[in-house]
Amino acid sequence: VSQSRYYPKKMAKNGVLIHYLRTAMEKEIVLSGIRPTGFLHLGNYFGAMRNYVRMQDEYNCCFFVANWHSLTTHPDTKTLQQSVLRVVAENIACGLDPEKVPLYVQSDVPEIAELYLYLNMLAYKGELEKTTTFKDKVRMQPENVNAGLLTYPVLQAADILIHRAVKVPVGKDQEQNLEMARNFAERFNHRYGETFPLPYAFNYNSELVKILGLDGNGKMGKSENQMTTLFLADDDELIRKKVMKAKTDQGPLTPNSTKPDYIQNLFTLMSLVSTADTVKKFEDDFNNSSEGNCIIRYGDMKKQLAEDMVNFINPIRTKAADLQANKDLLLKIIHQGADKARASASSTLTAVRKAVGMNYL
Ligand code: TRP
Repeated sequence: VSQSRYYPKKMAKNGVLIHYLRTAMEKEIVLSGIRPTGFLHLGNYFGAMRNYVRMQDEYNCCFFVANWHSLTTHPDTKTLQQSVLRVVAENIACGLDPEKVPLYVQSDVPEIAELYLYLNMLAYKGELEKTTTFKDKVRMQPENVNAGLLTYPVLQAADILIHRAVKVPVGKDQEQNLEMARNFAERFNHRYGETFPLPYAFNYNSELVKILGLDGNGKMGKSENQMTTLFLADDDELIRKKVMKAKTDQGPLTPNSTKPDYIQNLFTLMSLVSTADTVKKFEDDFNNSSEGNCIIRYGDMKKQLAEDMVNFINPIRTKAADLQANKDLLLKIIHQGADKARASASSTLTAVRKAVGMNYL
């Protein structure tokens, strides 16, 4: 929280200058979170992580692992700690710098839970039941429709509002949760006085790439079939095997054909991990013919893609593995992250308690 909020009133005389100073000093806060429920894959990397790794130099960022959220769908916590540490390690391996960005675990910041309680009084059963993600999860786990699942968007709003974050780098599927966060913030402000800025989804448009599974059926990572997803923890041989098994066909029948989704996806992947010359060569092969036959050979293309993919994933996997082998370092990183996050969180919570009238201490 910036100092400028506490400038004495009389300093506000020179309105223009003060306004300028405020905006210059109050760097907007970007907050991003991820649930520790699966292994990170290439879709996560190019769809989200790369995006906020870039943001860390331009904004005041916070990044956390949403382990409370994972309880709503994964009540068995035997492997949860390990997953949390893996997600932290993988994010650092992808370029997130814990010196620049407080990197913390949700459950280490109890202030979030208290804010969640206040926000729960402003969230209505009807609107929560209408949320798409809730309806999806009810379909997936009809035997465990718990209140945590219903109030998932309230906890997510608390994650964001506890730092008064205004920019949240998330994909399309999270738009509804962000809209709800804005609603809860607005209701709070309306009932108890201006306390929260309104948060919005935020991305560098050009950086959001949609990656399909290697069978071309839907987003990477969505399918049950592990062979169609490239995980950042996959070893070199497995990467080669998956890429070589990617869906192709007999090739285009005429020059300059439209690419089917699964072929376009291979070109997209290539554009992300191969050199521009390599991509151009295969684009040209796809679009040209020789003696009536299209030139491209998908086998060759996949071999090239497999090697470039190995060279891309290998250093990330190695760095993440080294970090996971150094548990003390990982714990130190998240403890530091928690300290910074709690400093910001408790200042918001003090204002919240005061606004609600819960300030006796
Ligand atoms: N719901 C998000 C997801 O499934 C994870 C999340 C929880 C989150 N709290 C957040 C994302 C706060 C951004 C901000 O991806």
